[in-house]
Amino acid sequence: MRHLCFILLAATLSEVSHAQNETGSNCCADLALSSVSLRVSYPGEAAYEASLASYFDGKSRLSPSCIVQPQFAEEVSGIVKVITAASSSKPCQFAVRSGGHTPIPGANNVNDGITIDLLYMNGTTYNADTGLASISPAARWGSVYQALEPLGRMVAGGRGSTVGVGGFLLGGGISHYAPRVGLSCDNVANFQVVLANGSIVYANKNTDPDLFTALKGGSSNFGIVTRYDMETFESEDLWGGIVTYPASTVDQHFKALVNFGLDPNRDPNAALIVFQGYSTASPTDVVRAAFDYTKPVVRPDAYKEFFAVTNNISDTTKIQPMSAISAEFGSDTTKRVQFRTVSFKIDLATLQETARLYKLVITELQAKASGQWRVSCLHQVWSTSYTADSEAKGGNVLGMERYTENFIMYQSYLSWSEAKDDELFIDLGIMLTDGIQKFAASAGTDVKYLYLNYADKDQDPLTSYGADKVDFMKAVAAEYDPSGVYQNLLPGGFKISKA
Ligand SMILES: Cc1cc2nc3c(=O)[nH]c(=O)nc-3n(C[C@H](O)[C@H](O)[C@H](O)COP(=O)(O)OP(=O)(O)OC[C@H]3O[C@@H](n4cnc5c(N)ncnc54)[C@H](O)[C@@H]3O)c2cc1C
Ligand SMILES: *[C@@H]1O[C@H](CO)[C@@H](O)[C@H](O)[C@H]1NC(C)=O
Ligand SMILES: *[C@@H]1O[C@H](CO)[C@@H](O)[C@H](O)[C@H]1NC(C)=O
Ligand SMILES: *[C@@H]1O[C@H](CO)[C@@H](O)[C@H](O)[C@H]1NC(C)=O
Ligand SMILES: *[C@@H]1O[C@H](CO)[C@@H](O)[C@H](O)[C@H]1NC(C)=O
Repeated sequence: MRHLCFILLAATLSEVSHAQNETGSNCCADLALSSVSLRVSYPGEAAYEASLASYFDGKSRLSPSCIVQPQFAEEVSGIVKVITAASSSKPCQFAVRSGGHTPIPGANNVNDGITIDLLYMNGTTYNADTGLASISPAARWGSVYQALEPLGRMVAGGRGSTVGVGGFLLGGGISHYAPRVGLSCDNVANFQVVLANGSIVYANKNTDPDLFTALKGGSSNFGIVTRYDMETFESEDLWGGIVTYPASTVDQHFKALVNFGLDPNRDPNAALIVFQGYSTASPTDVVRAAFDYTKPVVRPDAYKEFFAVTNNISDTTKIQPMSAISAEFGSDTTKRVQFRTVSFKIDLATLQETARLYKLVITELQAKASGQWRVSCLHQVWSTSYTADSEAKGGNVLGMERYTENFIMYQSYLSWSEAKDDELFIDLGIMLTDGIQKFAASAGTDVKYLYLNYADKDQDPLTSYGADKVDFMKAVAAEYDPSGVYQNLLPGGFKISKA
C-alpha cells in the first residue's frame, strides 16, 4: 500500500515539474493535480503527439505546454474552473479544439498554454421521442451519418466526412441540405454549454435564448459547447458526385451558375459547387462541378444547363447515401493550408474576374512553388432560402436579414507541402481575394458578409455580420462571461472584443 502511494506521488511530482518548465505551466500543474490528471499529456507523450498529428493543417501544430482531453461536460467544466482559478495568480492561455479543421494557426491550438482537445467527446445518439440527434463536438460528420443512416434519420451537417461538428456548427454550416432545411446552425435546437464560471447550461429557444442566438455564428466567444441537439429528417439516398471538365468550359459553367443562382424557382433539393482547380498531382487546369441532389433522382432537371456541357473528363455521380457522398469530400492532410473568402452578387463579370485572378495565381505558382501543391476556388450560391426560417427557429447572428437576393460565396483553398513556400502561397491567396473584393466594390457587386468557417486570420467575419449583431454579441458575452475569460484567456479564433 505504501509502495503504491509512493509510485502515484512520484508520477504526480514528475508531471508537475515537467509542466512547470514553461509558460501556461501553472495551469498544467494544477490540472495534473485535479480530477482530470489522467487526461493531461505532455510533449513526447503518445496522446500529445497523436493530438498534434491530427490537425488538418500542418501549420496549426503548435506547441502547447500540455493537452487535456476531457470525456464529459463535467470534466470540461472542471478544467475551465482550474484554468480560471490558476490564472488569478498568473494568467494562462488556452485553446479549444473539436475536429481541428480550421487552417488558422492559433484558432484551435496555442503555444505555451493548454489545448483542450475534445477528441473523446465524439458520439452521436438519436432520441426517437424528440426526433433530435445529440452530437458531441469532436464527432466527425462522417461518423454522424454512419450513426444516423441505419436509423433512417439524417441531419444537415458538413459535406466532408472528416470535418468536425464543433467549429462547423458555431460558424454557420453549409450542408447539401441547406436549400431544403436551412443553415446547419439553424437546425440546432439546443446547445449544452460550459460557461466561463464552469456552469453547465442549456441554450435553446426557451432558456438562455440570447445565448442560443449568439452561438449560431458567434463561434467560441461565449463558452465551450459540449453537446449539440440537432433536428433530424428522413434519410434518403442522394444523387451526387464530382464531374471534372476542361478549363476551357469555365465561361459556360459561370453562365449556368448565374442562371441557377438567380432562378426564383430553384429546386430546393439541388445543391451545387462550381470550382476551378489545379493540382501538381495531375497538372491540368480544370473546372469541377459537385452536383448533390438530396433525392435519389438520376440527372435531375435542376442541373440541365450544366449537363449541356458534354465534354467531361471524369464523372463520379451516382445514387449513394450521405455517408458515401461525404467520403468523397473528406480530406485528411498533413499539408499546409490557407482558406479565404469573399462574397459578391451573382454577376458574370465578377465571376470572370475571379477566373482571371485565379489564372494569375496558378501561373505565378507554376514559376515559383516547389513540392506538391493544389489550388481550388469554390463558387457557391448563398441563397436567401438558407435563412428564411431562421427567425422562427430562434435566429442567428449572421445578419442575413440585410439581403434580399442570393449571392455568391467564394472560397479560395490553397494547399502546399513546403514550409519555405508559406509566404508565397499566403500572399498570393490574399492577392486573389483582395483583387476580387476590389473589382466587386468598383462594379457595385460587393457583398459585405464573410463566411466565418472559410475566413482567414486577417479577415473579420464577426464585423461583417453588421453593427447591430456585433453589439448584440458583445452584450451576450458580457452577460455570460463578465470577466472576459473567453476573450482574454482564449486568444484564438475570431474575437468579439476585437470586432
Ligand atoms: C475538408 C474540409 C471540408 C469542409 N467542408 C465544409 C462544408 O461542407 N460546409 C461548411 O460550412 N464548412 C466546411 N468546412 C469548413 C469547416 O466548417 C470549418 O473548418 C470548421 O471550423 C470545422 O470545425 P472543426 O470542429 O473541425 O474545427 P476546429 O478547428 O476544431 O474549431 C474551429 C473553431 O471553433 C472553435 N470551437 C471548436 N469546437 C468548439 C466548441 N465545442 N465550443 C466552442 N468553440 C469551439 C475552435 O476554438 C476554433 O476557433 C470544411 C473544411 C474542410 C477542411
Ligand atoms: C525543461 O526544459 C529543458 C529545456 O527545454 C529540458 O532540457 C528539461 O528536460 C525540461 N525539464 C523537464 C522537467 O521537463
Ligand atoms: C471516438 O474516439 C475514440 C477514441 O479516439 C475512437 O476509438 C472512436 O472510434 C471514436 N468514435 C467515433 C464515432 O469517431
Ligand atoms: C460525362 O461524360 C460521360 C461520357 O460521355 C457521360 O456518360 C456522362 O453523362 C457525363 N456526365 C455529365 C454529368 O454530364
Ligand atoms: C455563472 O455565470 C452565469 C452567467 O453569468 C450566472 O448566471 C450564474 O449565476 C453563474 N454561476 C455561479 C455558480 O456563479
